[in-house]
Amino acid sequence: MNIDEIRSRITGRIGREIFFYDTVDSTNTIGSEIAAKTVEGAVVLADSQGRGRGRLGRAWVSPPGVNIYMSIILRPDIRPRDATLITVMSSVACATALRKMTGLDVGIKWPNDLTVKKKKLCGILTDLKTEQNKIVFAVLGIGINVNADVDRFPEDVKSIATSLRNETGMFYSRSGIAAGVLNEIDGWYEILKTMDRDALLSAWRQLSSMLGKEVRAVTSRGVFSGVARDIDSEGLLILELPAGEIMRINSGDVTLVQ
Ligand code: BTN
Repeated sequence: MNIDEIRSRITGRIGREIFFYDTVDSTNTIGSEIAAKTVEGAVVLADSQGRGRGRLGRAWVSPPGVNIYMSIILRPDIRPRDATLITVMSSVACATALRKMTGLDVGIKWPNDLTVKKKKLCGILTDLKTEQNKIVFAVLGIGINVNADVDRFPEDVKSIATSLRNETGMFYSRSGIAAGVLNEIDGWYEILKTMDRDALLSAWRQLSSMLGKEVRAVTSRGVFSGVARDIDSEGLLILELPAGEIMRINSGDVTLVQ
């Protein structure tokens, strides 16, 4: 990873300040610690993570030398109930950037997994600090499997994960990919700040790999099968159950039924 190269490619506010570490527990944890003291758009980047965090309390496999682990500090002036739009914005931006740079058919699996041929390439974890119905800051954590050989990932992960290298057989410049993703987020973040929901949601719909398809949703309220119809204006997944009943899912795991 070449930080000077990333810095030289940054075009906007996202990434104008970069804190690089060889190894950290989690870039999101560092991000939350420094958020109050740094500028919006600052990025915490690490070559490896000892305790990379995923959604729903899971671990994020974070070996050194091969992938991208970064967290961006944002202070959007939006209500906490609209925070899902940060996730929508970031998955659209990351998918768009990765498609442009690699030509791969990168899709979004609700809420914010990026997949290629149903395997996970990138995960996004947003940590929020809120106060009196305001967002004090958001730490947008992004993990991208770039040059990792997923055959070396733990047994339970390797059948569901992929990397740019696994998909194309090529090695990529992590600095180039990181800069491309940060620059794309810069543009989409401006759209989020204007609260142009329609622009965000329609881009999300176009990139979604599950709309119109049969899915299985494992949620805290139970397991539901149905057809993924849409996302609503707050980013919740709209599921149509077999009897025609409509249900909104705000968190959980949703997988395509083969
Ligand atoms: C998921 O799909 O479960 C989300 C994975 C998020 C991983 C990234 S890697 C950089 C940042 N630091 C973390 O500990 N997690 C996120």
